[in-house]
Amino acid sequence: MGRETGLAFAADAEIVVQALIDYYERSVAGEGPVIHQPPLGKLVADMELPALVREGGLSGARLSRFMDRYLSALTRIYHPANIAHQQAVPHYMVALAGLVDNFVSSDGSIYELGPASVTIEYFLINWLLEKVGWTPAPLDLRQAAGGTYGGGILANGGSLANLTALIAARTRLAPDVWQEGNPGDLALLAPAETHYSIARAAGIMGLGHRAVYPLDVDEWGVVLPDRLPDACARVAADGKRSVALIANAGTTAAGLYDPLEEIGAFCRERDLWFHVDAAHGGPAILTERYRGLLRGVELADSVTMNMHKLGRVTAFCTALLVRDARSLDEAFTQEASYLFYEKDQPGYDFLHRTIECTKPVLGLKLFMVLAAMGEAGLGAYIERQFDLTAQVYEYLQGLPDFSCPVAPQSNILCFQADRAAGRPLALRDRLLKRGNYYVSTAVLNGQRYLRLTLNNPATTLDEIKGLVREIRELRTT
Ligand SMILES: Cc1ncc(COP(=O)(O)O)c(C=O)c1O
Repeated sequence: MGRETGLAFAADAEIVVQALIDYYERSVAGEGPVIHQPPLGKLVADMELPALVREGGLSGARLSRFMDRYLSALTRIYHPANIAHQQAVPHYMVALAGLVDNFVSSDGSIYELGPASVTIEYFLINWLLEKVGWTPAPLDLRQAAGGTYGGGILANGGSLANLTALIAARTRLAPDVWQEGNPGDLALLAPAETHYSIARAAGIMGLGHRAVYPLDVDEWGVVLPDRLPDACARVAADGKRSVALIANAGTTAAGLYDPLEEIGAFCRERDLWFHVDAAHGGPAILTERYRGLLRGVELADSVTMNMHKLGRVTAFCTALLVRDARSLDEAFTQEASYLFYEKDQPGYDFLHRTIECTKPVLGLKLFMVLAAMGEAGLGAYIERQFDLTAQVYEYLQGLPDFSCPVAPQSNILCFQADRAAGRPLALRDRLLKRGNYYVSTAVLNGQRYLRLTLNNPATTLDEIKGLVREIRELRTT
């Protein structure tokens, strides 16, 4: 890098950091709408996209103007009334990790491309393996041969992690699949509440959506463990074999946990691959008071845990963990002579565990957040959000014109206002047009509800009281 470029970098970085601080301060103070959606064509013009691409020169005053326009047309993640989605409200360390990573452009796939970045991923996987109650992988790789220990990978999201886990499960059941294709008698077992990425994985794997057999659930979509044998019997009656049984540690719609201990015991008894989709609720394992929700997760074969939901990091940062590292090491069987070969090296390659070839560095941001907050600090944040959600539930239940279909277990809460407020989708549209509160909706037991995800450290009960006032006001207009 030339000296001049170095000076421009420092000056431009200062512009960007200052713009971000202003954006943060104003958002967190609740200034401006939390959400507003100008028409796309207007934004192309406002941000001067064609001129910037044509002319270049994004630096100094031009950069400052672009930052203003860009930030002013974003949904304000730090705004206390941002209570819609599961997206993490990031700790600022994530931004610094991103800066470092995008500057040095390391890689997370093979050791020689980035010993430090690969080491952090290896360390974080081990840290999470221990939280789940599994054996971490040895640091001295010469001790690795022959031992049984856990493994994992940081993946580009829960959807890819779920797909990878199911591919590993399929390779275990039908190892010839890579040469011969699917045998045609493969099935998956999952509750209907399961995130759509599981059905999508079934499609991608060529099993088809119809290969997913629903597990019996209660009215809120939570698995009924004593009915598991019936579901298995349905699979067997169709002449099929189950690749895996999937349960949720935090359903997407309502954040509810399946009874993992009973389900895990059932799967272990039958030698059935047990995958826990803990994309939402997994990080509760870091808390003192809520880790019991994940009791039995250690009985799983694989776990998906997104750190870009409850973990204060930006997307993507998903841990896919397996109890037995060999199951992931053997999941894919392709060769690539320029990358895969016996090497004598002091570190580890993740390449053979992922769908992609090039692998972004996903561990640095999680590590830097953890190292800033400490694991107890992150756990305390999660406890605060779960506690607040319980408090909001009590508050809404105490109102004559609001109610919740089911008590929350995590930081997601479905609720409804009385009929006079209008149907949930129409009510949400009106709320979003005003832009003071950003909420989502979800279908639960066949009915659509308004939905809150309290993933924002700046949100308090006051915002919920304000939301209630706004809904009541909308009812009368
Ligand atoms: C339970 C569950 N599984 C999987 C996913 C997919 O994760 P990602 O968006 O990281 O692909 C989600 C996302 O909402 C989820 O809630």
